[in-house]
Order: sequence, then C-alpha cells, then structure tokens
Amino acid sequence: MTKVLILGANGQIARQAERFLAADTDMELTLYLRNKERLADFQNAHEGVTLVEGDILDKDTLSQAVAGKDVVSANLAGNNIKEQAEHVVAAMTANKVKRLIWISTLGIYDEVPGKFGEWNNKVLGDYITHYRSAADVIEGSKLDYTVIRPAWLTDKTEVDYELTQKNEDFKGTEVSRKSIAAFVYHLILNPKEQVKKSVGVNKPNTAGDKPSWY
Ligand SMILES: NC(=O)c1ccc[n+]([C@@H]2O[C@H](COP(=O)([O-])OP(=O)(O)OC[C@H]3O[C@@H](n4cnc5c(N)ncnc54)[C@H](OP(=O)(O)O)[C@@H]3O)[C@@H](O)[C@H]2O)c1
Repeated sequence: MTKVLILGANGQIARQAERFLAADTDMELTLYLRNKERLADFQNAHEGVTLVEGDILDKDTLSQAVAGKDVVSANLAGNNIKEQAEHVVAAMTANKVKRLIWISTLGIYDEVPGKFGEWNNKVLGDYITHYRSAADVIEGSKLDYTVIRPAWLTDKTEVDYELTQKNEDFKGTEVSRKSIAAFVYHLILNPKEQVKKSVGVNKPNTAGDKPSWY
C-alpha cells in the first residue's frame, strides 16, 4: 500500500490525478484542501479516502497530514507559492518524508525558446518569478523531489505528452491536465524515476509562437 498525500486536492490537475489513484487499490489517499466539503462526494464514492481541511500555511495541520506518508504530490498556486513551498519542505523534512512531486510552470529558467518564450514571459510576468523562487526552495531542499513544468494547460481528455529536462529547451506550447495527472500517477507508481529532476511536460508536435487558442 502506498500512502499518498495530495496538497491542493481540489485543484484541476489534482482532481484528475485522484481519479487515477482512487482506481488503484494499492493506493491509500489523503486529500488536503481548504474546504473539504468540495470533495465530500468523491470521498463517499471511493473507499479509504481521507480528507484533511487546511491551508498549506497551517503548520500543525500540514505536519500531521504529512506524517507517515510515502509520497506527497503538491498541486498548489498563488502569489505566496514560495512560502507554501517553504512550509511543504519544512513539514516533510520534520517528518522524514522524502518523496515530493511539485507542479510548477514552464518558463521558470527562461528555458522556453523563440517567440513563444518571449510571449510566455510577457504574459506570465511576475507569476514566473514567484514560481521560480518556489522551485528554488524545492530544488535547494534535501527531498527526493520532481518539479513538473507543464506547458499551457488544456482540458482535452487525451493523455499525450513528452518530457524535457532542465538543461534542455522547452518543447511545444500545450499539454492536457489529464496528461499531467497521468504523469503524476506514473511517478507515484515509479518513485525512483525523475528524482531530483525538473521536468518540462508538453504535448508532442505543438510548437508555435503561442498556444493554438491565442
Ligand atoms: N493554466 C496554465 O496554462 C498553467 C500552465 C502551467 C502551469 N500551471 C500551474 O499548474 C498548477 C496546477 O494547475 P491547476 O489547473 O490544477 O491549478 P488550480 O486548479 O488553480 O489548483 C491550485 C490549487 O491550489 C490550492 N491552493 C492555493 N493556495 C493554497 C493554500 N495556501 N493552501 C491550500 N491550498 C491552496 C487551491 O485551493 P482552493 O481550491 O482552496 O483555492 C487550488 O485548488 C498551478 O500552479 C498552475 O498555476 C498552469
């Protein structure tokens, strides 16, 4: 049995990852979110799902939720993302929980080439700076982290993705949330893969100056 904690469990990617995980009887799921009523139906529909209500900045609640888990998967957002990263690292370090999957964004290392990279920097602005500083906290920790840098997200129901590493140019412009959820599930099933890596994730053959819907 793998004990999984999902942070930001009502997030859009998180909810899709939770469907993969809940269908796997080897997974024991704890879902951490700010308003647990929103996942009450999901809990009722699946056995063995625990809901924890809390903000990531609630130190004691987070620490108790992290304790004893095999893997933590963070699906967080916001201008205080660096502070959230610091809290997650502190709670995991204190509880000796090592494996972290952290969803970030494309562009944090200025790794998106060409006109798309320029457009991405301009449109995302300070968001990239906040997400970079959060990734720096994760990468500076002693955790067994994987930072995931998705391309622009779609709600297509496909799973179709390829990876790039930190020292490579980012590829493509888009990827589905379902693909990121499938990748998160893959990493939970294969905990030794992509450890201490920061991985770009895009749909193949979607290169362009902007995502296709812009
Ligand atoms: N949109 C894009 O094209 C794109 C591209 C690349 C990367 N990303 C990033 O990928 C990540 C995941 O995407 P997504 O679509 O799943 O995001 P999402 O639906 O916005 O989920 C983020 C979750 O973070 C939770 N959260 C924020 N602050 C929190 C706090 N202090 N304590 C507890 N929970 C907190 C939110 O909780 P509440 O539900 O309580 O608000 C929300 O459920 C995001 O960081 C997003 O910015 C987006």
